[in-house]
Amino acid sequence: MKTNTIQNLEKFTGTIIIPVFETYSKSLVPIEFHGVSVSSKIFYGKKDSFYVVEKYDCVHVFVGLGKTIDYKSLKTAFRRIASKLKDSFTTPVALNIPESFHAEQVEAAISGLFLGTYNLGYYKREKVDHPFLSPDFVLQLVSKKEYKETVARAIKIASAQLQIFNLVDLPPNKITPKYLSNWAIESGKRYGFTTKVFGYEEAKINDLEAFLSVGKGSDKEPQFIIMNYVPENVDAKTKHVGLVGKGITFDTGGLNIKTTGMVHMKCDMAGGAAVFGAMQLISDLKLPVKVTAIVPCCENSVDSKSFLPSDVIKSHSGYSIEIIDTDAEGRLILADGLSYLIKNFAPEVIVDIATLTGSSVGTFGYECAALFTNNETISKKLQQSGDEVGERLWQLPLWEVYKSDIESEIADVKNYSGKPVAGAISAAKFLEFFTEEHKAWAHLDIAGVAFGDDEFAKTKHATAYGVHLLTKFIENL
Ligand code: BES
Ligand code: ZN
Ligand code: ZN
Repeated sequence: MKTNTIQNLEKFTGTIIIPVFETYSKSLVPIEFHGVSVSSKIFYGKKDSFYVVEKYDCVHVFVGLGKTIDYKSLKTAFRRIASKLKDSFTTPVALNIPESFHAEQVEAAISGLFLGTYNLGYYKREKVDHPFLSPDFVLQLVSKKEYKETVARAIKIASAQLQIFNLVDLPPNKITPKYLSNWAIESGKRYGFTTKVFGYEEAKINDLEAFLSVGKGSDKEPQFIIMNYVPENVDAKTKHVGLVGKGITFDTGGLNIKTTGMVHMKCDMAGGAAVFGAMQLISDLKLPVKVTAIVPCCENSVDSKSFLPSDVIKSHSGYSIEIIDTDAEGRLILADGLSYLIKNFAPEVIVDIATLTGSSVGTFGYECAALFTNNETISKKLQQSGDEVGERLWQLPLWEVYKSDIESEIADVKNYSGKPVAGAISAAKFLEFFTEEHKAWAHLDIAGVAFGDDEFAKTKHATAYGVHLLTKFIENL
């Protein structure tokens, strides 16, 4: 896709996108643009509204921004027009940048436009192409300022997010653990990080028993994926961040089979996908931070070989785990991911991200992820980064009293309290048990925000939550 900047729209023909702030509610919005005036009766510049006028060989798309607009709403406003007005776009497309826009707003608008090209109809016989994806599509910014870097960055962000939409929305017969490890290898080659993969044998040699137990009921080979990004100039001050993402390609619940919501469980690798997307984006943006990322990938399936409730299994840490519920599988693979990361790479900061509990959805619904951390600085940085990119987080406690929920009689720890309360907290306490008292660890439970309903599709679909958040967090360190 080509982009350039133009100073004015003289002699322009094509589509012109005109973002409009709601300057005077219920009176005339002062738009006199390219010879098109919009009367107050039609368009006030209200948030979530847009208005299309065809005049002078141009399609004018007015986008309402309300009085002020946050990053996420701005991105959604642009995704909306790119997605809903797909058939109205004539090329080239000119985007008028309001003088009051700052770089982040330009970034949100352009990222949004590109996300608008997304189409869930992967397996439909009739394919629909988006005009923005045509090789001769040109986006022209109408602005006195140059936004070259911002535009490049916006496209990189959207590209990473589109990749993750793809990984999460494709079905589990396509997105297998092997598919994900191949994806990581290919993405690493293209964007500049290395990938190492343990299949069944290497995982066994490396004592990743908790991880292997979860995959036992599936004939799809588990893949323990380790990625490393090293920036060009490393010195003693270069920070080293560790990421771990849950990569359950489908969660049936195992022998404690799910009685509700199983149909959505292809999304159970969305934490892992967020880590993949962040790796792509961090490398693409060439951020000056070292990142080691682990995504344990397997399928939690039902079979005579499946692990059993009441099994006692080993883990990479050396601690034994009593299985109370095979549906509490995410924490098992994350436990091995965290121990392996800490023992072998000792990063200064660790963030894990997972669609871990229904309890976090019960607490925060679909608007906000649950954050757990033993480090207040990290907590603030994560929340601030989330607010900047419209991926919200709120902290829940890791108080010592909750530890009793995971104390086992027979083993070092158990994977579920057996009680229908405080599920997100006891899951986080379980993960904390495997962090070797690391001083800067955070856990993000994204079960409510990774996969959702919105105006862009009839079914639940991926949000790419975490891709931008993790990248921003690492940038803000
Ligand atoms: N993958 C689920 C959590 C989930 C719920 C993800 C809703 C996305 C949307 C997880 O593995 C799970 O099954 N958790 C159980 C744990 C329980 C059995 C201790 C839960 O939260 O109910
Ligand atoms: Zn489960
Ligand atoms: Zn799960």
